[in-house]
Amino acid sequence: MDKTKSKIFIETYGCQMNSSDSEIITTIMQINGYESTENILKANIILINTCSIRKNVEQKIFSRLQYYQSLKKKKYQFIIGVVGCITQKMKEILVQKHNVDLIVGPDSYLKLPYLIKIAEKGKKVISTNLSPNKIYENVIPFKTSKNKISSFVSIMRGCNNFCSYCIVPYTRGKEKSRTLKSIINEIKILQKLGYKEIILLGQNVNSYFHKNEIITDFPHLLELIATTTPEIRIRFTTSHPKDMSDEILKIIAKYNNICKHIHLPVQSGSSKILKAMNRKYTREWYLERIKAIRKIIPEVSISTDLLCGFPDETETDHKKTLSLMREVCFDSAFMFKYSERPGTYAAQYLSDNIPEKTKIKRLNEIISLQLKISLLRNKEYIGKIMEVLIEGFSKRSKEQLLGRTSQNKIVFFKKNNFHQIGDKALIKIKKASFTSLFGDSIM
Ligand code: 5AD
Ligand code: SF4
Repeated sequence: MDKTKSKIFIETYGCQMNSSDSEIITTIMQINGYESTENILKANIILINTCSIRKNVEQKIFSRLQYYQSLKKKKYQFIIGVVGCITQKMKEILVQKHNVDLIVGPDSYLKLPYLIKIAEKGKKVISTNLSPNKIYENVIPFKTSKNKISSFVSIMRGCNNFCSYCIVPYTRGKEKSRTLKSIINEIKILQKLGYKEIILLGQNVNSYFHKNEIITDFPHLLELIATTTPEIRIRFTTSHPKDMSDEILKIIAKYNNICKHIHLPVQSGSSKILKAMNRKYTREWYLERIKAIRKIIPEVSISTDLLCGFPDETETDHKKTLSLMREVCFDSAFMFKYSERPGTYAAQYLSDNIPEKTKIKRLNEIISLQLKISLLRNKEYIGKIMEVLIEGFSKRSKEQLLGRTSQNKIVFFKKNNFHQIGDKALIKIKKASFTSLFGDSIM
């Protein structure tokens, strides 16, 4: 470590988009002469990359800020910066109550080195304007993740959908897509670095749209990546059901290197609630998309997001979510209870009228049903031979490797002398739990 360089520590909360942004920030800072550190006590600058999607994440961030202030009282000297999603709505609280030195929104990261210099002179700095064009087109992120096999590639930012419960369109602004050229360039660099898989990231990847010399939408982008770097496995997340066209599904089916896994957040099984959520589809329409997905890509796995306890959700609405879950048989799900977010349509116009106890009860019912379905789904793989991209060692034993199938199933298996991290192995599945598969290598 270079003692003369200022050291920066970044703590990241929230979605994969935020992890990707933290890599962008690290890259911008390193280009400007800063060095990353994993030791808080050695840092000159501490940045918290924040998420405001649910209240409990926000509360965690506030308690971290208290901890950092307590370190300052013990005479540790550093700048505390808050970046990312909570900066839009929380500027005053962050400065006045938490004594934060620097507040920088998701579209202002290129200015960070300059803003830090001002903060170092003792001034409070706030830069949170959202820009319709800010996409960090030419920042090829320095990879900080421990996973050296699979890497995120951000293809678009922001969201135009304004689901009535969601803060993202306000914290991250309008959708903006990166150019084809810079996406392909980044993937080629990752390939040279030895990465074997990329995960195309965006709040809404399937509404990717870029118009330059040529018009490119998501199916074209997918096809171009699949053919330009055929050795690289491609995943993508998150997709909105309304934009999941047959054209995209056919491209996924056509190319071996596009993974057969679709994350398609449904949120609720009740058309009444979906309408109030402004999701722009009905239960029937979603189920029709699921049918199309399974018809066009028979070996596909499907995961989802579920959100219970939305305003006016009755027991009947909740039962409709449970019945949709049984009908679709999702491979896995992220499950949440509604958390009112100030500034959203729902917070302004709908009453958060489902008691906390009922929200918890419904969430628990959803979770216990999904655990059963995930186990059944995983058991369907027992006896099958699956191709697995080896990602690393199991945390429990150096004898065990783990990797993922095209369907995004985690598989544990015994290492042999030929297995290398980054290789593909054929594994016969012997056992399944609700989160993982277990098998033996057949070569
Ligand atoms: N409360 C709870 N969950 C939310 N999500 C988005 N906004 C909220 C909220 N206000 C969930 C949705 C979304 C996922 C990323 O987070 O399920 O798909
Ligand atoms: Fe939020 Fe809806 Fe946009 Fe997803 S699609 S980020 S839930 S507004």
